[in-house]
Amino acid sequence: MQLTTIAPADYARDVLPLTGALWADGRSLERYIEDFSTIAASAFGKRRFRTIGLRVDGSIVVSCKRYEREIRCGERALRAAGIGAVFTPPELRGRGYASAMIGALLDRERAGGTDVAYLFSDIHPVFYERLGFITLPSRTISLRADALPHARLDIAAVTDRDWTAIRRCFDALDRRRPLAFKRTPLIWDWLRTLGRTQPADGQRIGRIVRRGRTVTAYVLGRRVPRLDSFALDEFGYTADAGFDAVAPLIRSAAGDLRKVNGWLPPDVARPAIPRGAVKKRKNSIMMIALLSQPARAAWRLHGAAILADDADRCWSTDHI
Ligand SMILES: CC(C)(COP(=O)(O)OP(=O)(O)OC[C@H]1O[C@@H](n2cnc3c(N)ncnc32)[C@H](O)[C@@H]1OP(=O)(O)O)[C@@H](O)C(=O)NCCC(=O)NCCS
Repeated sequence: MQLTTIAPADYARDVLPLTGALWADGRSLERYIEDFSTIAASAFGKRRFRTIGLRVDGSIVVSCKRYEREIRCGERALRAAGIGAVFTPPELRGRGYASAMIGALLDRERAGGTDVAYLFSDIHPVFYERLGFITLPSRTISLRADALPHARLDIAAVTDRDWTAIRRCFDALDRRRPLAFKRTPLIWDWLRTLGRTQPADGQRIGRIVRRGRTVTAYVLGRRVPRLDSFALDEFGYTADAGFDAVAPLIRSAAGDLRKVNGWLPPDVARPAIPRGAVKKRKNSIMMIALLSQPARAAWRLHGAAILADDADRCWSTDHI
């Protein structure tokens, strides 16, 4: 059995109707397929995204998505391969297909010079630990929206013109992180594409704060009225004015929703929001496999600190 690339149209026809029940999040099958096709056809999708799997007698017996990213570790860039949507049809499970596919993929990545493989596990991490992955801290934070301070701010919805300013806020915080996913223009473009796909039971929103003509802070997230909650995906700020604006900005983005939930923000960003209730996540547990010498060296340098800290290493915007 050989790992093969599955063309997006084949994946949409043969796999997505089976995975919709798990990952469509209430979207109709048509929209689920349409959103997949939008990502696959985007500039990022064409260059950095593939659907792959194993076939037996021509039929797909297991599949996953592969994303190409870079992880910045100090000044060094590590090549990273993200694995998402690992799926074996129910009647074919327990025959070793998923393990074989991931094993073959890791071998191919190693041979091709990839430094790190990563994924966000929705199942018990022991499955991936057996294949050589390390489980990283993955937690949620919940806050009452009315526990966030209120302030008079110049708040506006994000428009296409604001992305340069958002990048500036992101970079200001990102520079202080020893280890993070790199945000190249292609990645920003992908996030904007994702931003245009709407979850079925909520609404994606982005808000910025202006001071004079400068954007000092931004927040990206989803309003989910069914859960009475604002799902916080990421925020950024520059300088003290931006830092002070983050919590009131999130409150404003939550609007009439009573709760704010999200992944525990990366350590440099955490002081900008109140402490909240922090719990281990059962879904989207971040895991990595070290495939190269530079990756193992980076892990020797940073691994202990990463495991000792509660916080996620990435924003949920980087979830795949
Ligand atoms: C998880 C999944 C991909 C495994 O596929 P598979 O081809 O059956 O995997 P393998 O045959 O290589 O390994 C089977 C082992 O997976 C493990 N496994 C299956 N489901 C699991 C779960 N929810 N949690 C932890 N381990 C699990 C079991 O140890 C199982 O061994 P067993 O059959 O002896 O009990 C498959 O069950 C699936 O498609 N599930 C639904 C989609 C999903 O949740 N994907 C994971 C997203 S992170």
